[in-house]
Amino acid sequence: MINGELLPIIRPSDDAGLVYVGGIEEDGMILEGSVNSPATGETYKIKNGYLDLLKARTGAHNVANLTNFLPGAGRAYEPLWRVRSLSLLTGEHFPIERELEIITGLVRPVSGGRYLDLGCSAGLYTRSLATEPVDAVGIDISPSMLKEAARRARDIGAKPSFIRASAMKLPFAGATFTGAVCGGSLNEFADPSLVLRETRRVLERGGRLAIMGILRTGTPRGRRLQRLLSTGGVRFLDPDELRSLLDHAGFEPDPLQRYGPIFFAGATRRA
Ligand SMILES: C[S@@+](CC[C@H](N)C(=O)[O-])C[C@H]1O[C@@H](n2cnc3c(N)ncnc32)[C@H](O)[C@@H]1O
Repeated sequence: MINGELLPIIRPSDDAGLVYVGGIEEDGMILEGSVNSPATGETYKIKNGYLDLLKARTGAHNVANLTNFLPGAGRAYEPLWRVRSLSLLTGEHFPIERELEIITGLVRPVSGGRYLDLGCSAGLYTRSLATEPVDAVGIDISPSMLKEAARRARDIGAKPSFIRASAMKLPFAGATFTGAVCGGSLNEFADPSLVLRETRRVLERGGRLAIMGILRTGTPRGRRLQRLLSTGGVRFLDPDELRSLLDHAGFEPDPLQRYGPIFFAGATRRA
């Protein structure tokens, strides 16, 4: 589903926004149907709960990206991994509620604002944002994840928008978001520095960014595991690299919050 008010700012290529062609609409949300780019003549479908801007392209750059396309990946992701991921990785009791409280505290949602979830998977952060009086938008490249994200949002009566698009080429006009969040995806993006530069472009001046991710570990066992995961395309940053990436992309980073190998980074878009 997609909020019809977003259409004028959605730019699949560097052209003007999209227009609604037809389908099923409810309270300003397009549940199913088609939209069109008057600039290119291209039509895009809204189906299975999301607007698909990638069509036949996968948007994937590595094996890690492709694992999110496996049948059942979306359904299994939150119950099998996500709800316990931070407890397993930090070795302390780290429920989802605590994580969401930290992310919300870092992004500081402003009533009436528009917020972007980068690499939203099954939509954990998008749903959390959608409980605030804001417009929440989740993007991901995986159809399986987006379908599940839309299903989970529907189940709680939340109305975020979901778009299949790459975070490395955000399909939005500049300075159109109040803030952005990113849970674990920075480790999976093929070019995290490009994603951060794109995020800066779409954020308004002073816009906030909140990221949760996994740092490069120092333990021999952790290093072996991270080396193995790196062969599939997952990358692990150290705190200095992360600060430098944020700085070069045009963000003023807050002090990093660390819980074992997990970090929470807040940052403000510089003018
Ligand atoms: C670690 S998961 C994200 C978890 C999710 N943010 C959460 O908090 O539950 C990484 C996600 O990033 C997505 N992804 C990878 N590369 C992407 C890209 N270039 N653009 C958008 N999404 C991408 C994957 O499909 C996957 O769903």
